[in-house]
Amino acid sequence: MLRSRATGEFVGDCGLTPQPVDGVMEVEVGYHLRTATQGHGYATEAAAACRDHARYRLGVDRLVAIIHPDNTPSQRVAERIGLSFERATTSGSGDPVHVYAARLA
Ligand SMILES: CC(C)(COP(=O)(O)OP(=O)(O)OC[C@H]1O[C@@H](n2cnc3c(N)ncnc32)[C@H](O)[C@@H]1OP(=O)(O)O)[C@@H](O)C(=O)NCCC(=O)NCCS
Repeated sequence: MLRSRATGEFVGDCGLTPQPVDGVMEVEVGYHLRTATQGHGYATEAAAACRDHARYRLGVDRLVAIIHPDNTPSQRVAERIGLSFERATTSGSGDPVHVYAARLA
């Protein structure tokens, strides 16, 4: 859960979850902000902290974000924390997704 340090306001959520992608278990960084709190860099700040936690505390060597092809704001967050477009595929439910990925090791 994300809260504003200044006001304590609930901002959104961000975290790491194991996710199967094309039959391989990956570690995904995910983020969601309330509409009212978008456009201030909070998702990027939180996702960068999760990336660093994955790298330095958990020893994760590869991080992904699984993003709908039309979700440009999410793709921009992924790119700002160092992930790059890797491939297009489908989710477990058959929806098109883009995989953004980075080596952390
Ligand atoms: C994906 C999502 C979290 C992105 O939210 P966001 O507000 O665009 O992302 P950030 O909080 O990192 O804010 C970045 C924006 O704030 C701007 N910004 C303003 N002040 C800033 C500051 N002080 N520091 C950093 N960025 C700032 C940046 O320029 C950037 O805008 P831009 O992309 O137009 O250049 C949001 O669209 C969302 O919750 N969507 C619904 C859920 C979702 O799709 N989640 C992802 C599933 S894969």
